[in-house]
Amino acid sequence: MKTLVIYTSQTGFTKRYAKWIAERMDADLFDVNDVQSENGSFFTRYDAIVYAGWCVCGKVAKAKWFFEKAENWKDKRLVIVSVGAALNGSKEAEMALNKILTDEQKTYIEAFYCQGGINYEKMNLASKLTMKAYAGSLKKSKEERLRDMGAMIDHSYDASDVRYIEPIVEYLSEAMSA
Ligand SMILES: Cc1cc2nc3c(=O)[nH]c(=O)nc-3n(C[C@H](O)[C@H](O)[C@H](O)COP(=O)(O)O)c2cc1C
Repeated sequence: MKTLVIYTSQTGFTKRYAKWIAERMDADLFDVNDVQSENGSFFTRYDAIVYAGWCVCGKVAKAKWFFEKAENWKDKRLVIVSVGAALNGSKEAEMALNKILTDEQKTYIEAFYCQGGINYEKMNLASKLTMKAYAGSLKKSKEERLRDMGAMIDHSYDASDVRYIEPIVEYLSEAMSA
């Protein structure tokens, strides 16, 4: 099975996950900027396509491009990966994951979440200001869980872990053995 992994990453976490997935699946790996103007024939050779993007306000960055393309790729195994700051398995991560796909898209795309982290040093100014303001508002929350989250995202940290790709690899490998 030939797999393609496409990613978009602002501060490097999504790129790292995309690389890990590509290595495990022996897949081709591209930044979305390098393939978004490719025509249909470029993608025909692939049996599975993974799109990984960083989570921005509950959505996956540049997912619109992938969703439009995916309408013509229903014969392939399709995966979307959201890489965010929320803890793996947390309510926030689950909520973000549930909102990624419409019911129709769920019939031909599988969504996964992987925790990345925060890197203020690599963020653009607009992102930095938004994240700092969000962290500040969470820290004032009445809920301890949200205050903890505010404290966590108020500074840079790296929670990426190669183990988080296991469900994705498993899902893609099912197609190989089918
Ligand atoms: C403007 C903005 C909005 C964000 N929104 C979310 C969010 O809704 N949920 C989340 O888990 N992480 C959110 N994040 C955190 C990023 O998704 C996280 O830092 C991710 O690891 C970045 O990936 P990258 O290094 O590939 O750019 C947001 C970050 C920014 C800058």
